[in-house]
Amino acid sequence: MNVERKTEEAILKIGDCEIKLPIITGTEGEKAIDIANLRKATGYVTIDPSFMNTAACYSQITYIDGERGVLRYRGIPIEDLVKLGSFTKVAYLLVNGHLPTPEQSRKFSHLLNINSLLHEDMRHFFDQFPRGAHPMHILSTMINALAAFYPNVDLMSLSEDIDASTARLISIVRTMAAVAYKKSIGEPIVYPRCDLKYCGNFLNMMFDSPVRPYTVRPEIERILNVLFILHADHEQNCSTTAVRTIGSAQVNLYATISAGMSALSGPLHGGANQEVITMLQQIANDGNISKFLQRAKDKNDPFRLMGFGHRVYKTYDPRARIIKHECEELFTQLNIEDPLLQVAREVEQAALTDEYFIERNLYPNIDFYSGLVYHAIGIPENMFTVMFALARLPGWIAHWKEMIGTHTRIVRPRQLYIGNAKSEL
Ligand code: ACO
Repeated sequence: MNVERKTEEAILKIGDCEIKLPIITGTEGEKAIDIANLRKATGYVTIDPSFMNTAACYSQITYIDGERGVLRYRGIPIEDLVKLGSFTKVAYLLVNGHLPTPEQSRKFSHLLNINSLLHEDMRHFFDQFPRGAHPMHILSTMINALAAFYPNVDLMSLSEDIDASTARLISIVRTMAAVAYKKSIGEPIVYPRCDLKYCGNFLNMMFDSPVRPYTVRPEIERILNVLFILHADHEQNCSTTAVRTIGSAQVNLYATISAGMSALSGPLHGGANQEVITMLQQIANDGNISKFLQRAKDKNDPFRLMGFGHRVYKTYDPRARIIKHECEELFTQLNIEDPLLQVAREVEQAALTDEYFIERNLYPNIDFYSGLVYHAIGIPENMFTVMFALARLPGWIAHWKEMIGTHTRIVRPRQLYIGNAKSEL
């Protein structure tokens, strides 16, 4: 990746030593002090726990302005991408850097179709998991196992045929997710169909049954595309950082994606949408919103207002704005009356006028409303994080591809040792 935007220098003075550090300017004018040679020049390292202030890489995939609530994939605002209404086109955009032409789109759909079947031998694996196992645990294990069934995962084969590798992962993980669900409820699995599009196919594999045929409703297929587009990438979040870090050791793509999946399962990351529903149900049962806000503000109470706050957004999450609107529309179109939506509106209103949340710039994030939509379209709560993972796959693959393509050295941070000094036995 060619980075030639060194317009200024920062001067760092340590004792009598003074060194100049280049300042790099990003496309949107953000500035970064390049410290890559600091240790070599001075013997010092920098310390920044949890990377609150560190850009770990250069990237051309996604731009976020957390202060203004801006999100763009490959330069295109998220609001415009949602209007496209096609998750697979957005997946293509993220991985390849441009939207597909009609011919590329047709080829990509074909690849998705021919790669959608799970290796028959892998089906038996699902029987070994205990009933009630969380589908995220099942899925990350199964993705890891893919390398054994599809062994052409060396870097050369993958990056030479990135369209096929991308399509296989995106398509097969969707099939696995639906199989995991069917197994968990003891129903026969439903095979993918080549006459259905990506999201419709997933809905059909989830909900069709020999005794209860399922018809894909266009409103539901549309909102699933919207949700998947909104979740498709979010630059260097925890799971993407896991993907880049693990991938830098040149681990195979499947194991790398499985690591991202594990990171996503945490309640502070992708697990939050499930927690939001649990929290809204508790609040609805209790009826006292201010009691829960009080608990969220109490530092001695581990309770947090789930679906609120974000490391990067210090204003309303643009994805939450879109999904809140879509959620309201869907409920009207399908005549759904879910008391939890009203509770969510009231909690949001109460938090946004509360000094604690105002001072800390805590706004709803995407997870605050996404769970309500999944709930409304029949997705069980333990599948919410799986839905997030399916949507995030193209982002993970795009970052993996970019990381490999820029010949990233193995990721290996330094530390500052503060343990015991050398002592006698
Ligand atoms: N409820 C109550 N207080 C909160 C919340 C919350 N949801 N979020 C942040 N705060 C408080 C913190 O306690 C801290 O207070 P302090 O300054 O008095 O110590 C302050 O706001 C700053 O928060 P941090 O913890 O520094 O924020 P951080 O960037 O580390 O964490 C996170 C971000 C994990 C998203 C956090 O806001 C949180 O836990 N939210 C709830 C979980 C959630 O919704 N996760 C989904 C994230 S979006 C996604 O992954 C798609």
